[in-house]
Amino acid sequence: MKKIFFLVLTLFIILNVHSQSNTVSKNISANLSLESTYTTYSMASDSFDKNLKSSYDNSMMYALVAGGSKGIGYAIAEALAKRKYNLILIARHSDSLLTAKNKLESEYNVHVDILRLDLEKENAADSIARWCTEKDIHLKVLCNVAGFGGARDYLSLPLDTLRYMVRLNVESCMALSLTLLPLLEKNAPSYILNVASMAGLAPIPVKNMYSATKSAVVFFSYSLRYQLKKKHISVSCLSPGPVFTKPEIEQDTKKKLGWFGVQMAVPQKKVGEIAVRKTLKGRMMIVPGTLSKITSFIIRILPRRWIVAIYSKVGNK
Ligand SMILES: NC(=O)c1ccc[n+]([C@@H]2O[C@H](COP(=O)([O-])OP(=O)(O)OC[C@H]3O[C@@H](n4cnc5c(N)ncnc54)[C@H](OP(=O)(O)O)[C@@H]3O)[C@@H](O)[C@H]2O)c1
Repeated sequence: MKKIFFLVLTLFIILNVHSQSNTVSKNISANLSLESTYTTYSMASDSFDKNLKSSYDNSMMYALVAGGSKGIGYAIAEALAKRKYNLILIARHSDSLLTAKNKLESEYNVHVDILRLDLEKENAADSIARWCTEKDIHLKVLCNVAGFGGARDYLSLPLDTLRYMVRLNVESCMALSLTLLPLLEKNAPSYILNVASMAGLAPIPVKNMYSATKSAVVFFSYSLRYQLKKKHISVSCLSPGPVFTKPEIEQDTKKKLGWFGVQMAVPQKKVGEIAVRKTLKGRMMIVPGTLSKITSFIIRILPRRWIVAIYSKVGNK
């Protein structure tokens, strides 16, 4: 018992030292705030409403949350609104976008724009960048959140669904980061927050492609952070364990990981708050929750063949 306690304590200390060392260049300011008085509503799809241009005050700081109408994306949007960032939320469904907009505008007195777009589509990133440039948006934060997973994976999903997963999880994150780079550079110091997953830290046979796409997001973020450092753009990567944003995730976690999975889960609001706080502090890898931090540390240092064996045992339940 004593040995286990000391092992966990040592891992925890190592982990904390490791995350402290992640602090990026001090040039990136930690606390940004401003007051927004705008409440204008715009609903744009592929054809954007050019008449809205005059309603913008270009001194306002904006954060764009791709996948910001629900779940972790909404929690991130809320944590940004709390810090007085105006928001651009992107999702496919207008009802949840409108609900998010109304809630955030009334609670935090910020300006929220909503764009109804499917991020999987090839021209989505170009359309968003064009829209932001036309509106002369002062983009300070880009959050790539939208992703697709589910309990079924590679061997049981049709090719079209797997292609959708790759396009949404990897391509949209890669494309938005590139097309919005000129705006982020213009408004530097600025931030990119990519949402991966703990599933991206090691291979998981039953979540084969999901895990592969999320590991692409992790690697992409590490390299991009290095490449953009001189431009004063800080890149962070959120890799949460389970977050019960839908009943299916809670059921699947309980079935596969039982008590341990429930203990590891972190409420979505807390995930959003931690993600935004650490992103603005310039941290690279963000894993909310102590148990998730310890687990993610262990799965990153264990040999991959061991991890695959462990995951396939629990995952096949
Ligand atoms: N929940 C977890 O346990 C967990 C754990 C680790 C990592 N993650 C990652 O965290 C991210 C968010 O997960 P979540 O559970 O919060 O998801 P969620 O509750 O399903 O929310 C996803 C958000 O993205 C939007 N979205 C989905 N597909 C889209 C598309 N093709 N185009 C545009 N917008 C789209 C959704 O709105 P519409 O449906 O209206 O489009 C919604 O706003 C994902 O990348 C996921 O892989 C989740």
